[in-house]
Amino acid sequence: ALLGSDLVVFFGAFGDLAYRKVFPALHALVRNRELEVPILCVERPGRTLEALRERARASVQEHGEADPGTFARFSAQLRYIAGDYTEPATYQRLKEALDGARRPLCYLAIPPSLFPVVVRGLAAAGCGPETRVVVEKPFGRDRASAHALNQTLHQAFPESAIFRIDHYLGKEAVQNLSYFRFANSFLAPLWNRDYIDNVQITLAERFGVEGRGRFYEEVGALRDVVQNHLLQIITLLAMDAPREQGAAALRAEKLRLLQAIRPLAPEDVVRGQFRGYRDEPGVAKDSVVETFAALRLHIDNARWAGVPFYIRTGKCLPITRCEIMVYLKEPPWAVFDEPIQPQSNYFRFCLSPDVTLSLGARVKQPGEAMRGEAVELIARHQLQHAESPYQRLLGDALRGDRTLFTSDECVEAAWAVVEPVLGQTSVPLPYEPGSWGPAAATLVVEAGDGWHDPRPQDIPPC
Ligand code: BG6
Repeated sequence: ALLGSDLVVFFGAFGDLAYRKVFPALHALVRNRELEVPILCVERPGRTLEALRERARASVQEHGEADPGTFARFSAQLRYIAGDYTEPATYQRLKEALDGARRPLCYLAIPPSLFPVVVRGLAAAGCGPETRVVVEKPFGRDRASAHALNQTLHQAFPESAIFRIDHYLGKEAVQNLSYFRFANSFLAPLWNRDYIDNVQITLAERFGVEGRGRFYEEVGALRDVVQNHLLQIITLLAMDAPREQGAAALRAEKLRLLQAIRPLAPEDVVRGQFRGYRDEPGVAKDSVVETFAALRLHIDNARWAGVPFYIRTGKCLPITRCEIMVYLKEPPWAVFDEPIQPQSNYFRFCLSPDVTLSLGARVKQPGEAMRGEAVELIARHQLQHAESPYQRLLGDALRGDRTLFTSDECVEAAWAVVEPVLGQTSVPLPYEPGSWGPAAATLVVEAGDGWHDPRPQDIPPC
């Protein structure tokens, strides 16, 4: 049985991520009585416990489901430990405050440059091998820096203590990808190069960089969402069935798949930048950072040889939507007196904003002729009671369940896929805000009918 954490240590409680995601998730865990231990927030001197509680209150009101009774309990669990992250004395104070806790959960919502000093400090404060260390993206900037971060963490903690967050893995719709694949026998014979023509994944966002220009300049679309969220989605779509449930078997299959993805070549990528990006605060006037990427991936194994996996993502696109289309091959022979309609058989997974799964098919239209029309068989997920991704992931970390977290090897393997096209200094192709990116993005798709542009009206309301 997994033993729960007996304390939480939180670095970065005044940060943006804490405000938007972490406090609301912790509050929800307190409401469900899944978090009843003290939460020590280590913050630079000059803050106060009152200020911390106010920040938590504002965060929960703005981004969570505030309820006064829960908040009173949550607020009473918060503690403030003043100290500079680089000062040894901070970790002495932390040691006293740990008060013999054996399984603290240490949440590091801090820039990776601070990892080495904080990790050493945690070890000095007496955090032992049963400690759980939760780290956030970006996990490195490339394979070498990710490897260095892994080494830093491993100097103080075993891999079994590390929980790397990719919030997409906390989404119900993403977990359903592997559930749907492996819980249904009818899919197994289809799910390979014999029947699948191509796979398209679009992660489109209508909004721009929303004041995060300085952050975005350091990453760009490839580092921000491709290396992590989108490659995780491909992994769940394409991996073989794990031998059993649980972290070890899943990680093994994910790693095998990631290692089979061919590292990207420059001709498989089109980078774009929306017009106006360079006028954003914090963005260089001559920035070559991409806000859009379209790519073609190949998986070099027996199941997927020859099946292209296309990814498209960008800011300032026409719509905010994440959708996967898995296109089946055309029927081998035109029996009816109508041309074969390309791409009319598919699975569509809408991951957000609404969560649906549909099967595209053709059925006969009434009349003498054997002519048909396209229909979609739709299943909708009822997610009213679903936890937010952060609530799910932090709850799992508190219990010590690593299934939904990424391993050191998987993170490095994902970097190896994108690495050859990182750091390109050529100017990305400009595109108009509200368009589907630069026109050249169409060249990426060689199979089938080109890009499928998701539209809300494709999935009618209930
Ligand atoms: C984050 C990226 O990891 O994921 C953001 O930094 C992006 O740029 C976000 O907008 C998308 O996540 P979601 O859950 O809103 O689809």
